[in-house]
Amino acid sequence: METSKFTFFTIFLFFVFTENLSTASRTKSHKTCNFPAVYNFGDSNSDTGAISAAIGEVPPPNGVAFFGRSAGRHSDGRLILDFITENLTLPYLTPYLDSVGANYRHGANFATGGSCIRPTVACFSQFHLGTQVNQFIHFKTRTLSLYNQTNGKTQFCKEVLARPKDFSNALYTFDIGQNDLAIGFQNMTEEQLKATIPGIIENFTIAIKLLYKEGARFFLIHNTGPTGCLPYILKSFPATPRDRYGCLLPLNNVAMEFNKQLKNKISQLNKELPSSLFTYVDVYSAKYNLITRAKNLGFVDPFDYCCVGAVGRGMGCGKTIFPNGTELYSSSCKNPTNFISWDGIHYSETANMLVANRILDGSISNPPLPIQKACKLTKN
Ligand SMILES: *[C@@H]1O[C@H](CO)[C@@H](O)[C@H](O)[C@H]1NC(C)=O
Ligand SMILES: *[C@@H]1O[C@H](CO)[C@@H](O)[C@H](O)[C@H]1NC(C)=O
Ligand SMILES: *[C@@H]1O[C@H](CO)[C@@H](O)[C@H](O)[C@H]1NC(C)=O
Ligand SMILES: *[C@@H]1O[C@H](CO)[C@@H](O)[C@H](O)[C@H]1NC(C)=O
Ligand SMILES: *[C@@H]1O[C@H](CO)[C@@H](O)[C@H](O)[C@H]1NC(C)=O
Repeated sequence: METSKFTFFTIFLFFVFTENLSTASRTKSHKTCNFPAVYNFGDSNSDTGAISAAIGEVPPPNGVAFFGRSAGRHSDGRLILDFITENLTLPYLTPYLDSVGANYRHGANFATGGSCIRPTVACFSQFHLGTQVNQFIHFKTRTLSLYNQTNGKTQFCKEVLARPKDFSNALYTFDIGQNDLAIGFQNMTEEQLKATIPGIIENFTIAIKLLYKEGARFFLIHNTGPTGCLPYILKSFPATPRDRYGCLLPLNNVAMEFNKQLKNKISQLNKELPSSLFTYVDVYSAKYNLITRAKNLGFVDPFDYCCVGAVGRGMGCGKTIFPNGTELYSSSCKNPTNFISWDGIHYSETANMLVANRILDGSISNPPLPIQKACKLTKN
């Protein structure tokens, strides 16, 4: 019973959405998409405050350079996702997990720092991609049911909730996979880790298909960055071979293999799922370019970072409170614009902006569409 009802509902929705889309595609093909909303899935590269809301505040000096306060982001300012929503003239995304001052009129952010694609116990966060998709489904079901109860007439429906018709016209963005690879690298050889990639891509595909079933049609998928260039990784593996620029060779090889399989899968999904448009974004190249051209771009040593933790290295940006009550603060970070890396793991706002600019104009996208046109339904 349960299953047949679900299937009926899904098939029904499917027809409703495809019907709307074919009209939309005819009228839209030469104009901008006017995405009414963005739904994002990912890890700390695009977490706009979920971990702050769910677990504990990301401490200052995170956020102070742009927001003037800690804004739940691991950076001195905006993330790539923030530049994307700015470009689409939409507000910054509220984390799904944030219950204070939340507004979901133009989308929601399901990304949480530390997340993996797969539900690995070793992962830094519980909120793996499958959970994020479950949260989205709950979000959508609750939204539709609240609309239904009140015919969308309440102030809350009009101002705070997502509009039901926007789900199929929204842009669905993804930046996840880095933690699956970084965690695997802690106890696996390059070859062992490469062997896990098809399984990771398989889980990613399951997530995408679930969202498609829910009516998502326009997907913007970032590949994974050169994790082997992150300062904290370099410090963790001092004896591992480097490439000519100083990045960890085996881990970047794994990242490139992941990206190759991701790209293949995305072009397959593009053919397989009717009325969809998948845009694959080569964030790896854009980030790697920053590293290799650091000097020309006016950055200091690309493996140096701005916010150095008070204790240890890497993740220590901000305040550390010990059980005995002692509080230690990070060394001050005066010129974040000079750095590619903000805290040894995450990128500075300046670096994020340079990468985002290449996403916005379509120069690292396949198909090479500016983001505002990433809904065009012509297949090639
Ligand atoms: C991911 O894959 C594993 C096995 O490869 C499976 O057990 C798990 O249920 C999958 N999770 C999701 C959310 O797809
Ligand atoms: C909306 O309400 C109608 C009538 O009560 C019901 O048949 C339908 O299943 C509801 N839809 C949703 C999405 O809750
Ligand atoms: C690496 O560690 C994880 C658990 O943290 C374990 O599941 C996995 O089997 C280990 N892999 C290897 C190759 O030792
Ligand atoms: C509290 O613990 C920290 C870290 O172990 C140590 O550096 C500090 O001196 C301790 N403070 C006191 C008052 O014991
Ligand atoms: C969005 O990005 C495109 C491509 O770089 C640019 O032409 C456009 O002016 C930007 N729009 C806004 C509102 O920032």
